[in-house]
Amino acid sequence: MTRAFITGVTGQDGYYLSKLLLEKGYEVYGLVRGQNNPKIEFLKAELPEVKILTGDLMDTSSLIRALNASQPDEFYNLGAISFVAYSWENASLTADVTGKGVLNALEATRIYAGDDAAKVKFYQASSSEMFGKVQHVPQSESTLLWPRSPYGVAKVFGHYMTINYRESYGMHASSGVLFNHESPMRGPEFVTRKISMAVARIALGLQDKLVLGNIDAKRDWGFAGDYVEAMWRMLQQEEADDYVISTGETHPVREFLDVAFNHAGISDWEKYVVQDPEFYRPAEVDLLVGDATKAKEQLGWVPKVSFPELVRMMVDADLKRQRDAQN
Ligand code: NAP
Ligand code: GDD
Repeated sequence: MTRAFITGVTGQDGYYLSKLLLEKGYEVYGLVRGQNNPKIEFLKAELPEVKILTGDLMDTSSLIRALNASQPDEFYNLGAISFVAYSWENASLTADVTGKGVLNALEATRIYAGDDAAKVKFYQASSSEMFGKVQHVPQSESTLLWPRSPYGVAKVFGHYMTINYRESYGMHASSGVLFNHESPMRGPEFVTRKISMAVARIALGLQDKLVLGNIDAKRDWGFAGDYVEAMWRMLQQEEADDYVISTGETHPVREFLDVAFNHAGISDWEKYVVQDPEFYRPAEVDLLVGDATKAKEQLGWVPKVSFPELVRMMVDADLKRQRDAQN
């Protein structure tokens, strides 16, 4: 039985990746941080087969202990402070977790693997946020990185550390430069889920305003369920490498709003949306659109869920949740 160890198992991607690996017959171990983490109950209910280990990316010894306990063939490092807006107010913490946490994970893996450096295949969750002030459109593996947030800077550190450990020690360490991916499991702080939740509540007469920031920003949005498949494919390659994972389409937040509201039967949606500088960022990433040609050619990976299908899936899920909560 192949064994996988996942940090960030309580997050959106941790959920979809665990499901995928369990379906493939893996034994899955997940790292959960903190004392009495409320997300443990959800994890136990939704994915009871996942074996829970405690630890923190800031504590290398906890990672070594978790590796000894799980003896993994594959290590997916998904744990991070992942909310870009939060990273300006918590820059040092973001550097520690999202940046240095990657080094801790790599170092723990190197120590655990001993003489057999490539014993554990390592996946790092890098991000299109690293492209920031984009230097080329569309963005590929060779596009210059120009991060625009403490989060983006921390991810660049983790990205290059992953490459460095591969080149220095011969580790099988791959970095997936994933563009935004969403789902009904997305955290409510991210714009897509904030919109789908509000649209459901407005459609049911439970809310009358949606307060947002910059709705002209453009993102390349895909479905998280498709993207975790790409992570897995990267670790099945003979050689470790870095891959951009994206749909190749970009859409403004405004278009997400349009599709979401119209799906809920509301066409005159502008009257419900208010823009507030509180949600503007000190430095914005205006446009992201990826070129995933390498992933298509080398991994055979292509996204399956289209942009309108993704929006509708999220709105339907939140309508159902709201209706269930009312009954
Ligand atoms: P998410 O839902 O925010 O999940 C983040 C996970 O990291 C949570 O399980 C969280 O645990 C864990 N975590 C936070 N601090 C930690 C620490 N100190 N030690 C160990 N774990 C810690 O993020 P996601 O959307 O699933 O994304 C997964 C990864 O991909 C992240 O690294 C993210 O930066 C990256 N990424 C995401 C996207 C995207 O569009 N979703 C795109 C590119 C890259 P708690 O539940 O206890 O807080
Ligand atoms: N969150 C949020 N809330 N974003 C808003 C809002 C709002 O009220 N109004 C407008 N936006 C805009 C943001 O300014 C940004 O341009 C865009 O919506 C997307 O914001 P988020 O959904 O918070 O995602 P993100 O692109 O900043 O970051 C996500 O994707 C990255 C990959 O590019 C996160 O998942 C990161 O962890 C990930 O690395």
